[in-house]
Amino acid sequence: MQPNPTLQVRVARKCSEAQDICSLELHPLAGESLPAFTAGSHIDLHLPGGLVRQYSLCNDPADATHYMLGVLRDAASRGGSAAVHELLHEGQQITISAPRNHFTLHAGQPARHVLLAGGIGITPLLAMAWQLARDGADFALHYCARSRDRMAFAGLLQSMPWADRVHLHLDDEGDAQRLDMAALLGTPRDGLHLYVCGPKGFMDAALGMARTAGWSEAQLHYEFFAGEAVQREGDGAFEVEISSTGQVVRVAPEQTVVQALAGIGIEVQTSCEQGVCGTCLTRVLSGEPEHRDMYLTEDEQAACDQFLPCCSRAKSPRLVLDL
Ligand code: FES
Repeated sequence: MQPNPTLQVRVARKCSEAQDICSLELHPLAGESLPAFTAGSHIDLHLPGGLVRQYSLCNDPADATHYMLGVLRDAASRGGSAAVHELLHEGQQITISAPRNHFTLHAGQPARHVLLAGGIGITPLLAMAWQLARDGADFALHYCARSRDRMAFAGLLQSMPWADRVHLHLDDEGDAQRLDMAALLGTPRDGLHLYVCGPKGFMDAALGMARTAGWSEAQLHYEFFAGEAVQREGDGAFEVEISSTGQVVRVAPEQTVVQALAGIGIEVQTSCEQGVCGTCLTRVLSGEPEHRDMYLTEDEQAACDQFLPCCSRAKSPRLVLDL
């Protein structure tokens, strides 16, 4: 697999959109153009200090003259969102990747799309709403936030020609404003597709409710923010063998393969550490990986000859790695 190509862009605009949320408008350098993208795509942002983080594109996919991102300053982050907020400035030239899409709109002919955003999860769904409106599709966008001052892009959404499809739900404005998720998801119908993006608790609640109500997996589309799907309850230990030396290391349930390898002095180059960028891609010579990345395609994962050791684990007791 080829590494995702990179390109240089300029931060043309940086605005505060809500409490702890800024938007970035990225323009191509003079004489250049940006690759087209589809709704649900994200790019890697190469940040000052060497961090690489992934952010969804939230502008109209029909207009690739620029890319727009919305970034929440996350108190729990390991520096990525803080670097965006503190170190990126208008006029700065930065490196990004070409867009990739792991959160696509259903391509068939559904009767209706329900877009459900929690907080900063609005970003990919905003691009989807643009696309669905342009396609003349039947859709509704439900956007939940703790309070109005934390709701990015609310003014933009309310000014759209399709503003009547947008439903804003605010936790602090009483029961009438809060989303009745059980009512929204209680009756799955053929042709209905649900797209969910937001914090893990929000997504777990929405997807759990939908599955209980009888939505099929084919009707559910979601994107966890990077890093949230890496470790799961019930993860077990397994072994990793280094093919060049025969060395074997145990990967404990709370460790990643990268961490276990670092423990015996083997450094695997990483960037996102969240299964998104592909930097740590490693060949697997035998054993069966349990893929948890958002980088490899389904076919590439099924081939079981490579995996992302920053997040993926093993289904077999041992993996032999080409290291
Ligand atoms: S470091 Fe990005 S996918 Fe592993």
